Amino acid sequence: MTSSPQEAREQLVVDQVVASFEGAPDPRLRQIMQALVRHAHAFAREVRLSEDEWRAAVEFLRRCGDITTGSRQEFILLSDVLGLSMQAICISRPAQGDATEATVLGPFFVADAPAVELGGDIAQGAAGEPCWVTGTVRDTGGAPLPGARLEVWQADDDGFYDVQYGDDRTAGRAVLRADDAGAYRFWAVTPTPYPIPHDGPVGDLLAATGRSPYRAAHLHFMVSAPGCHTLVTHVFVEGDPLLASDAVFGVKESLVRNFIRHGPGTPAPDGRPLDGPWREVAFDIVLARDEAS
Ligand code: BEZ
Ligand code: FE
Repeated sequence: MTSSPQEAREQLVVDQVVASFEGAPDPRLRQIMQALVRHAHAFAREVRLSEDEWRAAVEFLRRCGDITTGSRQEFILLSDVLGLSMQAICISRPAQGDATEATVLGPFFVADAPAVELGGDIAQGAAGEPCWVTGTVRDTGGAPLPGARLEVWQADDDGFYDVQYGDDRTAGRAVLRADDAGAYRFWAVTPTPYPIPHDGPVGDLLAATGRSPYRAAHLHFMVSAPGCHTLVTHVFVEGDPLLASDAVFGVKESLVRNFIRHGPGTPAPDGRPLDGPWREVAFDIVLARDEAS
């Protein structure tokens, strides 16, 4: 193939940089860096990146760094809105039998949430419509997983996680253990849509590109059992108009469930006295077995 002198000059830069990684002792690092260079240069050449645009991109990354703290990770948020977090999950967790699909972890997971008994209320004061959540945990072979550990967390009706209030509250999160039959049940609040943190550079990027920061309503789960892959997933609300435009591309059709609405006065399954409407949802979870087990 013939190339113009300009194309040849551009290709020379790519070749020089790729070659500079040839001696990397770790072959995987060498592969990643060389592919990164090839793709990044191809991108710059495709869009004919100007120096001003390159400077603006560097400034954007500087702002991402400036706003990042132990609890605010703007680079992960950037990866989320670019769909890269979901792509990494997609690549590293290929479908395994009928295993429940994984989705993004998000920034609001907290290890060591309070233990709640089966049938208890994880809301712990979080505002929202009560929601009765039930299901089973089993493996891809169909065996129930007694004692499976379920970590669940969610935003309240105002769209905030407890950790976003800046006080010491713990609400809308818990650790539960499945019973001897691998079944679980708990009260939560009905999930509602909320925006990802959008007061920083990632929010500016979404605004500049006409994209919404809203996530489809969801309840987070991290489920683990010995001999199985730990699953990070959500259950989404059927009929939510935001299912098709989730800001972080986290929605999987297989994770959408009917949150059945019950009017005021309908008795709750466990006899809990309730004044207003409430909902219930069933979400059965299937964990993939570790290869070795
Ligand atoms: C969340 O669902 O909590 C979340 C996920 C990705 C980015 C921001 C928030
Ligand atoms: Fe969330």
